[in-house]
This record gives sequence, structure tokens and C-alpha cells, in this order.
Amino acid sequence: MTRPEPPDELVPGPVLVVGAGLVGCYLGGRLQAAGVPVCFVGRSGMLDELAAHGLQLTDLSGGRSEVPASALQLHTDVPEGARPSLVLLCVKRPALVSALARLAQTVPRDTPVLCCQNGLFPAADAMQAAPQLRLLPAMVPFNIMRRGPGHFHRATSGQLAAQASARLAGWRPVFERAGMPLALHADMLPVQWGKLLLNLNNPVNALSGLPLKAQLLDAGHRRRYADLVEEALVLLRRARIEPHRVTPLPWERFLQVLRLPTPLFRLVAFRMLRMDAHARSSMAEDLAAGRPTEINELCGEVVRLAHTLGAQALLNARMAEAISATSR
Ligand SMILES: NC(=O)c1ccc[n+]([C@@H]2O[C@H](COP(=O)([O-])OP(=O)(O)OC[C@H]3O[C@@H](n4cnc5c(N)ncnc54)[C@H](OP(=O)(O)O)[C@@H]3O)[C@@H](O)[C@H]2O)c1
Repeated sequence: MTRPEPPDELVPGPVLVVGAGLVGCYLGGRLQAAGVPVCFVGRSGMLDELAAHGLQLTDLSGGRSEVPASALQLHTDVPEGARPSLVLLCVKRPALVSALARLAQTVPRDTPVLCCQNGLFPAADAMQAAPQLRLLPAMVPFNIMRRGPGHFHRATSGQLAAQASARLAGWRPVFERAGMPLALHADMLPVQWGKLLLNLNNPVNALSGLPLKAQLLDAGHRRRYADLVEEALVLLRRARIEPHRVTPLPWERFLQVLRLPTPLFRLVAFRMLRMDAHARSSMAEDLAAGRPTEINELCGEVVRLAHTLGAQALLNARMAEAISATSR
């Protein structure tokens, strides 16, 4: 008779979260609550908050897990001699290259690094910053919001995805146990484009000043969003890239639904509207806080795709300009 494996033997090893913010605290917290040793690297303000309150992780299905402050390993820099089995790199795009350069100085070569940034990734500047690390693009489909000190809430649904790699295969049961099943894809580009299309609502949301749900219930804002997606879809078709579905609907049908009158939209899109009434896009938070936004990684990618095809993406270019003008 085979002896059942104790749970600890299932854990591939310690995780290093670089960028203890919304995504980093949620993903790292869920993993630690599932028994994985996690070390968080972040800014002192956030670390003080975690040291005082611990972590509380909730989700829109009523799930809840907690990590007491006494169990948290908190650092303001990557600890010298760190030997993580996996790094979750959760800084925003503007902080990425410097965070990677620091990681490259400290963790062993070939350490797998899940890059959780929105957009098309890994990009050339990131690869250059850490050529000896194993950068693996990941896609975080859900929206995380902060509900209070140390309390991070998953406000929408979706399945985590990452670049298929032998080093990640052993992590799938661990993510599953943590309540965050991880899908592995041989080609992440269509997955990333799928998320990017969905995120084209972020600038619309940021400029609207409304929570996501209220913004999606406004026909004018939905039309602006649909127009940005449609412009990108035309270009993707020309580039022969088939973006993944990130909603149950094919993209063309998704556009039709966005363009329905609001009472019908409310009925048809009830799943899409299953979100916390206060959730906002992270771009809205960035604009409000005067931080740089990731517009270059969203509308900017559509504009770049257009250029490579000798075409234009006027709506996305105009939206990128509107966000840049607001953040100046
Ligand atoms: N929030 C979401 O719901 C969501 C969902 C899906 C994907 N994403 C993507 O995930 C990425 C992270 O987003 P987020 O919302 O979690 O950002 P966030 O809340 O701003 O978290 C990032 C944190 O990392 C800190 N940081 C920056 N450089 C660092 C370094 N070198 N070492 C340690 N900490 C550092 C930041 O501090 P400073 O502010 O001082 O720079 C910030 O506290 C983004 O690319 C975003 O597009 C976000």
C-alpha cells in the first residue's frame, strides 16, 4: 500500500513576492494561507500595515482566508541569499526593470519569475534587465481591491494563467489548493491579448470617475469601450492573432452585448456585472493618486500593433493621449 504524501511534501518551496501591493498581497497571501512559505518585499508603508493587521483575503464568492501578522515575513528589499522556488513579480510596469535588475543580483540564475503585469510580456527591456532569470509571463484575470488595512478582496472572477514550463507544472496543485487554479499555456500571446482587450475598459473607467459596475451600466461608456476593442480586433485579425476569450462569449458577440441598450445589457451581462459595487480599475486608482499609469501597455500596444501593420489605431491613440493629458 502506498503511503499518502503529507501536505508539506506537495509544496515545491518558498515563494518570494516582489511588490507587496494589491496583486502581490492577494496572491502571496492565498498561497501562504494554503501552507506555502512566502516572503513579501514591498514599501515600508504597506509592510507596516501588514505588520500591524496581518492579511485578510476575501473573494466575491464569500471565500475568506487569513494570515496573522506574526506569520508574515516582510522585507523592504530582496533578502541577500534568498533562494525562492518561485518569484511572483507584482510591481507595476514602470517599476519593473529596476525590480528585475535587483532580483538578478540576488536570486540564483534560472529562478522562475512569474511576471504578473498586465500587457504583452516579457518585453525586451525586462529580458535585458535579468537575462539569467527564467521570466514567465502570467495573466491575472481578476480585479483586486483593498477593503481596509491588510484586507484584500478579489472583486471579479477568472482563472490565473501562465507560460507553460516544467518548473511550473508542480505548482499547479499548490495554486489549486490556494483557491487559485493556474492554467498553463504554450503560447501566452493570445491570452495576453485577450486580457488586454478586456482591460481596454480601464482607461474608460479611469476617465469616467465611476466604479466599474456603474460605468458599465452607462451606454455611452460601454460604447467607447466597445469601439476601442473593435479597433484592436480588426488589427489582430490582420496580424492573424486570435485573442483568447476571457468572457464566456466570443469577442464579436461580446461587442454586440456591450452595445445593447442598458436594460437589456443588465439582463444579458449579469455574469459580467457580478462584481463588487465599489471596484474600480487600477488605472483609476493610479490617476487619483497621481501615479504613472500603464496606458502605454494597453492602448499603446494597440497603436504599436497598428504601426507594425502599416495601419492606424486612432481611437486607442486618442484614448492614450487623453489619459496622458489627465495624468500630466
Ligand atoms: N490590481 C489589480 O486588480 C490587477 C489585476 C490584474 C493585473 N494587475 C497588474 O498587476 C501589476 C501590479 O498591480 P497592483 O495593482 O498590484 O499594483 P500596486 O498595488 O501598486 O502594487 C505594487 C507595489 O509594489 C511596490 N513596488 C514597486 N517597486 C518595488 C520594488 N522594487 N520592490 C518592492 N516593491 C516595489 C509599489 O510601490 P510604489 O507604489 O511605491 O511604486 C506598490 O506598493 C500591474 O502591472 C497591474 O496591471 C493588477
